[in-house]
Amino acid sequence: MRPKVIAGNWKLNKDVGESEKLITELKAALKFPLEKTRVIICPPFTSLALARKLIEGTVIELGAQNMYIEDEGAFTGEISPKMLRSVGCTYVIVGHSERRQFFKETNELVNKKAKKALVSGLLPIICVGETLEEREKNITDQIVSVQVKSCLKDLSSSDMEKVIIAYEPVWAIGTGKNATPQQAQEVHQLIRKLVGQLYSWVVAEKVFIQYGGSVKPDNALELLKQPDIDGALVGGACLKADSFTSIIEAAVRSSQN
Ligand code: PGA
Repeated sequence: MRPKVIAGNWKLNKDVGESEKLITELKAALKFPLEKTRVIICPPFTSLALARKLIEGTVIELGAQNMYIEDEGAFTGEISPKMLRSVGCTYVIVGHSERRQFFKETNELVNKKAKKALVSGLLPIICVGETLEEREKNITDQIVSVQVKSCLKDLSSSDMEKVIIAYEPVWAIGTGKNATPQQAQEVHQLIRKLVGQLYSWVVAEKVFIQYGGSVKPDNALELLKQPDIDGALVGGACLKADSFTSIIEAAVRSSQN
């Protein structure tokens, strides 16, 4: 059985002092055995160095929220995968819907970022998901399939073992309105089937598919119990140590059943 992967996407939240407080509280709260569960935090760039120090010797792993596709050069304001590696990141989120919406990132750019992350030794968390309008038009499967195919273009089978796909319906992000476990499971199953067609069933069985969109302590267990939901990408609820810890506990419990 695949372990569960719980990642906290802090977004544009927490300055250095606030980051220190949150990580310290999280470490204190995570004293239970994390069987078959991995925990990742993705603070803003400005807190990564501090986070690396604070999580040393713990099971918490480090991720970034974005990266650029070059190692260095005249790209004002951007951060390279090499820099992220040097600050201790293992993971990087690419193609989050907020990047697509506010910074006009396309599937093509997300694909370039995923490939660059992999050659640079980072494990990409590739986000896909439909808008409310697309769901209401009944084109969710079509939209998600195009996103998955485009974002995974030219990735090898061995790359796929390092990739996490995050299914995040845009209408569920930050709205308090999560997809039901059944709605999420349906799309996760579709994504796994698609990976099976593009690669092989062996690869599809290994790939991690996280759900994201208003995951909270009170809905996490039911979502995580679904056979094709391998974890969660958590926004709002990761900003408080107790709610993030409850979601991690739900992941541990979901693997026990
Ligand atoms: P949310 O965000 O949990 O606040 O809905 C999830 C995400 O954007 O990754």
